[in-house]
Amino acid sequence: MSDLSLFLGQFLRRPSEIRAIAPTGRATAREMARLVTPQMAAVAEIGAGTGTITQAILAHGLPPERLELYELNAAFCGRLRERFPGTRVHNLPAQEMVNVGRGDLDAVISGVPTLPMPDELQAAIVGAALSMMKPGAPFVQITYGPVAPLSETVRARFRLVHEKSRRIWANLPPARVYVFRQPA
Ligand SMILES: C[S@@+](CC[C@H](N)C(=O)[O-])C[C@H]1O[C@@H](n2cnc3c(N)ncnc32)[C@H](O)[C@@H]1O
Repeated sequence: MSDLSLFLGQFLRRPSEIRAIAPTGRATAREMARLVTPQMAAVAEIGAGTGTITQAILAHGLPPERLELYELNAAFCGRLRERFPGTRVHNLPAQEMVNVGRGDLDAVISGVPTLPMPDELQAAIVGAALSMMKPGAPFVQITYGPVAPLSETVRARFRLVHEKSRRIWANLPPARVYVFRQPA
């Protein structure tokens, strides 16, 4: 089954978890992976789906053994294991990375749809990621909405500053990429 068919089928079963009808487009995936370098010791991707962004991350020369993937959906995890041997695929919510993941992450790349989530869930996900990241490391978040994908309350709680990309029209729906950091 193609990635598109798998994605659409899972979206129809679990629309509130997946929140997009198609995987991220290539231009957006490249923007999401922009800060990854082959020298990074450990990177995590959360909400990896069928792996479009994963592929862009690995295309930067990061060895797969240094990439951890977190994904709620079991069918997507199966696809990720097939496509990306060497990566560690966790069929777990991202907020549980503190129990199983590697620390001192150089970056976290997030396809998790944070924008529609309540503040407590946003905070659980970002708080877990920040506790595993090196100081000042980027938390890269995709969004389809017109505003920042983490609420003002959550940004204030974790003292996050951010920069954002231009809107990427060649995506369904059009997307923007935010890079959040806790100033060191
Ligand atoms: C919009 S899709 C993006 C998938 C993929 N990153 C892409 O760009 O094509 C959101 C993904 O996040 C996953 N997801 C939602 N909540 C999650 C959570 N708390 N932890 C991990 N994955 C989650 C969904 O199962 C889905 O695969």
